[in-house]
Amino acid sequence: MMELLRTTVNGTYMEVMVDEEQRLADFLRERLMLTGTKIGCRKGECGACTVILNGKAVTSCLVSVMKAMDAEIWTIEGLGKAGDLHPLQKAFIEKGAVQCGFCTPGMIMSAKALLDQNPNPSREEIREALSGNICRCTGYVRIEEAVRSAAAQLQKGE
Ligand code: FES
Ligand code: FES
Repeated sequence: MMELLRTTVNGTYMEVMVDEEQRLADFLRERLMLTGTKIGCRKGECGACTVILNGKAVTSCLVSVMKAMDAEIWTIEGLGKAGDLHPLQKAFIEKGAVQCGFCTPGMIMSAKALLDQNPNPSREEIREALSGNICRCTGYVRIEEAVRSAAAQLQKGE
């Protein structure tokens, strides 16, 4: 059944007719063309589809689009753009934490949700926050370093 969805995505309020059975990941990618959110497993296991919903990192392949009602959603497109990257995006590049890039948007959204709650996380806390995000290329050390570096930059206000 089609329903009217009222939601805010990347700071923009919108009212859109949606299929209430659609998953949030498909709504973002197919309806809003926000294809930075990736789809891997569709089972909540890889984390590629992670977005921030009301301040929490969620695997959007498992979330009904109707959970977005009156909610605030952030995707990788809302963080920064070429030439004006978010410190997390910069740090991932600088620390070599990106190879194929498939996991990167989800990884960065999980890291963003963490840093929003905990600006100075320990290694253990970073590992825990990113434990639902699988990377097949880089290993996790560089990713962890990138998150620590971004945390330091954000704390300095850069
Ligand atoms: S596609 Fe959503 S967790 Fe893998
Ligand atoms: S950079 Fe390829 S899966 Fe992480």
